[in-house]
Amino acid sequence: MDEIKITKATTSKLPSVDFNNLGFGNFFTDHMFVVDYRDGEWGNAEIVPYGPISFEPALSAIHYGQSIFEGIKAYRMKDGSAAIYRPYENMKRFNRSALRMEMPEVPEELFIGGIKKLLQVENQWIPDEIEHALYVRPFMFSTDQVMRVMPATTYKFMIIFSPVGAYYAAPMRLWVEQKFVRAAEGGVGNAKTAGNYAASLHPFAVAKKRGYDQVLWTDANEHKYVHECGTMNVFFLVGGKLLTPGLDSGTILEGVTRDSVIQVAGDFGIAVEERDVSIDELVQAYQAGQFTEAFGSGTAATVAKIEEINYKGFIMTFNPLNQPVADALKQRLTEIRDGVLPDTRGWMVKADS
Ligand code: COI
Repeated sequence: MDEIKITKATTSKLPSVDFNNLGFGNFFTDHMFVVDYRDGEWGNAEIVPYGPISFEPALSAIHYGQSIFEGIKAYRMKDGSAAIYRPYENMKRFNRSALRMEMPEVPEELFIGGIKKLLQVENQWIPDEIEHALYVRPFMFSTDQVMRVMPATTYKFMIIFSPVGAYYAAPMRLWVEQKFVRAAEGGVGNAKTAGNYAASLHPFAVAKKRGYDQVLWTDANEHKYVHECGTMNVFFLVGGKLLTPGLDSGTILEGVTRDSVIQVAGDFGIAVEERDVSIDELVQAYQAGQFTEAFGSGTAATVAKIEEINYKGFIMTFNPLNQPVADALKQRLTEIRDGVLPDTRGWMVKADS
């Protein structure tokens, strides 16, 4: 692979961005990373000014959906350095998604190398504020111009950055879905592919009309076992243990933050059970006073508290001001990411390493 060529933007948008009102995904930095796949190899890696890309209307990604992505965050560490949170885990997941969608793998020198190089160019864009980060969005889509349904022969892999605040600013209210399905065994539930998100939009809109923030997905066969929320994995504190749906069925996304929560919970001596979790089990535990906290985990969501779960009209509520386990996990992860605590697991990858 040749050197990454860099073409700098003539002006920066940085002075026009209000870092106190970022929201999530509203602003993009000055540059983007682009590399093309053709004739079985990646070539022409470049960093260029952020801006439009043009294609013919027959672009296969638009019609048949060969499109995958990742969500990663880069942080300003206490010592002033820039570090990326567990990007190798995201790279592995990205390449698993690529395999499932019959797309080429992206090698480390482009995935990790591209993020690091772009971060060196955009270093000024990393927010300093607590709970803010530079969101890193690597993505790949097919670029053939063809009407037949077939794996493309050409692809583009790109990385863009967005300075972000919290994805969910307030605790969430979830609707336990009993009609629509996010994923079935053998499907693409564990691939981070665009279509999964498109298919969730109508059920989300229906839940929103009912006054809920998110759908809590259940299994395709019986609507009995909890899966995830589509934007985050889920954890339930029952009898002092954390329960979270297991990965074996291939129907939920293998969250990097999910894995971090499991490891950090272990440090706190909290047992975590990764297994099928039925909604009936949760209802019974709630009625017995044993189900005391619920939260989601994700790159964008970080650790996001859940304050209500509605299952067929049975409402379980959780006081967001009294969720000590969620608070402790969130704080510990924040301290690792900000470099306040030592990074004993090697999760933080320095931009200049
Ligand atoms: C992430 O957490 O990074 C995701 O990709 C979820 C997306 C809905 C923002």
